[in-house]
Amino acid sequence: MTMLSFLVALLQVTPALAGEDPVAPYIMRDTHAGARPARETVLLEAFHGRAGIDRVVDDLVTTSQADPRIGDIFKGQDMVRLRRTLKEQFCYLLAGGCSYSGRDMATAHKDLGIQAKDMNALVENLQAAMTREHVAFRAQNALLAKLAPMKRDVVTR
Ligand code: HEM
Repeated sequence: MTMLSFLVALLQVTPALAGEDPVAPYIMRDTHAGARPARETVLLEAFHGRAGIDRVVDDLVTTSQADPRIGDIFKGQDMVRLRRTLKEQFCYLLAGGCSYSGRDMATAHKDLGIQAKDMNALVENLQAAMTREHVAFRAQNALLAKLAPMKRDVVTR
């Protein structure tokens, strides 16, 4: 690492944002989003733009918190931050022109004890949210295909 890239990296260490809890410092990188962004711009249209992505994430988070299968996992966590970073992540992956400023998937989930069945429940909730947003199935599957390999970083037991 050169001195210049070190200084640039230092500037990217996240401060705590308004309404969010502080997290241990880390360097922001788009690669923390866990997959490369899509190349097709039609996906963003299929999700009805950034506003549609935001609606899908809000629906996913709200239904998952109320879901008796996985709701307890979200108790006591910073849901303001989760909504923000999840919106960024989906927008980044769907080529919506966002940067992802959150932590990598392994770091974000390491203490949550997530099981494969929890991941399946979350994916079901995401599919339901995308269907309520009238996202075409082909576009739904494009996002799910980006997320599927992240299971190895999210599921820890
Ligand atoms: C591919 C699947 C998943 C993706 C893409 C994903 C994405 C994210 C993102 C972007 C964050 C925020 C990172 C940050 O704070 O810097 C996060 C945190 C979190 N995720 Fe996931 N997640 C996935 C699976 C799950 C599952 C299956 C559960 C539980 C059923 C879950 C529960 C949580 C919780 C509770 C947090 C907050 C942790 C904290 O604030 O310390 N996630 N996830």
